[in-house]
Amino acid sequence: MLEIANLTVRYGAFLAVDRLTMNVGAGEIVGVVGPNGAGKSSIVKSVGGLVKPTAGSITLDGRNLLSVPVHERIELGLSIVPEGRGLFPRMSVEENLIIAGDPLRDRVRSARNIERCFELFPILKERRWQAAGTLSGGQQQMVAVSMGLMSDPRLLVLDEPSLGLAPIVIGEIGAALRKLGESGLTVALFEQNAKLTCNVADRIYILASGCVQHHDRAADLMTNPEILDHLM
Ligand SMILES: Nc1ncnc2c1ncn2[C@@H]1O[C@H](COP(=O)(O)OP(=O)(O)OP(=O)(O)O)[C@@H](O)[C@H]1O
Ligand SMILES: [Mg+2]
Repeated sequence: MLEIANLTVRYGAFLAVDRLTMNVGAGEIVGVVGPNGAGKSSIVKSVGGLVKPTAGSITLDGRNLLSVPVHERIELGLSIVPEGRGLFPRMSVEENLIIAGDPLRDRVRSARNIERCFELFPILKERRWQAAGTLSGGQQQMVAVSMGLMSDPRLLVLDEPSLGLAPIVIGEIGAALRKLGESGLTVALFEQNAKLTCNVADRIYILASGCVQHHDRAADLMTNPEILDHLM
């Protein structure tokens, strides 16, 4: 579904992503694990159109994404949950979801998607009228994931959803991502947290200094945790 080939991102003279090649097949959950500064957000932003790659190609279902304007990428079924969550802190949970569903231009579908988000994260239903910025970090991340789901994506790309969260909450986010995967959604999870990624993903790329160091099935990586320790 998503094919990235020889992606290179430079900021001035600094090489952040170096000829990276990876793919995400339809129905798969693919993880990209890498430490601070490995280039995760640079890849996510390249997919989303917020960073212009220096070289390489990104295609979604064979279509060249790099020539598609940012706002039109949503219509192709791409949704990104950005690092730092990107929600509107003064607006309520429900208002955030409504705004995220706006590209659908369909109130009935939007209302149905809100209900689905509330099924996935029941606590958000209880908090639907609360200002998003006053929620706990974990609940805010649940809002961010829900906002990503509001446009009915086929591919959901998440940039470090575990950031700043307690292990128990990270487990809840992981369980929700697994459920989404089971429902047929294709997911690309970019993370520093190797445990979360191994628990959620089918396949994992290990990233360091903008390059893929290793690529394996999550189940095989879990039987060889020293690979993760060694490479990260
Ligand atoms: N706008 C920018 N200008 C210059 N350098 C940048 C810019 N954005 C990122 N970088 C550098 O590029 C490298 C990769 O950054 P990136 O944010 O993609 O990594 P990351 O894997 O997402 O890290 P983190 O885990 O901290 O989010 C880092 O060394 C970072 O300092
Ligand atoms: Mg990042």
